[in-house]
Amino acid sequence: MPAEHIAVANHKGGVGKSLTSVMLAAGLAQAGWRTLLVDCDPQANATSMFDPDDNVEFDLFDLVKERTPLSKVIRRTRLECLDLLPSTLAVAQLDQQLVAMHRREDVIRNALEPIRDDYDTVVLDLSPNLGMLVIAALSNADSLVVPTDASRWGRRGVSMFLEWSEQLREARVLNADLLGVLLTKYEPTTRVSRDVLADLQASDIRMFEAVIPKRVAAERMVADCTVLGDQGADPDLSNAYARFTVEVMNRVVDLQKTRGRHHA
Ligand SMILES: Nc1ncnc2c1ncn2[C@@H]1O[C@H](COP(=O)(O)OP(=O)(O)O)[C@@H](O)[C@H]1O
Ligand SMILES: [Mg+2]
Repeated sequence: MPAEHIAVANHKGGVGKSLTSVMLAAGLAQAGWRTLLVDCDPQANATSMFDPDDNVEFDLFDLVKERTPLSKVIRRTRLECLDLLPSTLAVAQLDQQLVAMHRREDVIRNALEPIRDDYDTVVLDLSPNLGMLVIAALSNADSLVVPTDASRWGRRGVSMFLEWSEQLREARVLNADLLGVLLTKYEPTTRVSRDVLADLQASDIRMFEAVIPKRVAAERMVADCTVLGDQGADPDLSNAYARFTVEVMNRVVDLQKTRGRHHA
């Protein structure tokens, strides 16, 4: 079966897309799923979790624009089942470059085509905008995870993002199934957090049951390049992301069965 391409997306910044991508990719790899983490954000936050010394030689820009072979761009990580397709600041130029490229919505799909059968899943960390690269990554996705922080603007943003993705769906650019919306930075002691959770649960938006707590330790995990399951990882964050990973796996398996029936 070809790899399930899961895009982690939201046009709002700081909602935990990169941390979620890294934790999900690490969690899937630890569960034995051969996983490729594709960093599509020029901020390269996901990359830095596995390459703290910033010594990326080839990145997504080289792959898409310079046609550098995947074998040169993809790197192994310290986790057995996890590989990384890194980003650097150069990826910021891709948005501009894509505008002039033929069949630009397909560039990510075409670039990753040769390794479709080498992985069980490909996790794509997207940047916080609605630019061409995000559209190309979304158009290549089979499924979608939308993290949103437990704030008023986060609540508003997630509805906006889902509406925008519906427009892409109607334009036949997006085909991905929404795996779910993941509430992040949740603080049970604040009323805003509790209100946002209750409001999302009462809506018809498909949520993950796992909720990611707001923890000061998140910053330390990023600084130390610690992922779930590592010694020194914050237990609350690790447990929440582990529960989320299991939900993703179950939903992917269910979807693949349904799609299989439809395509049979
Ligand atoms: N659950 C959390 N609790 C506290 N801080 C978090 C949490 N998740 C992410 N952060 C912090 O918030 C910032 C933004 O997270 P990030 O994953 O980079 O978001 P995005 O990729 O959506 O911009 C980072 O500094 C990160 O360490
Ligand atoms: Mg990010």
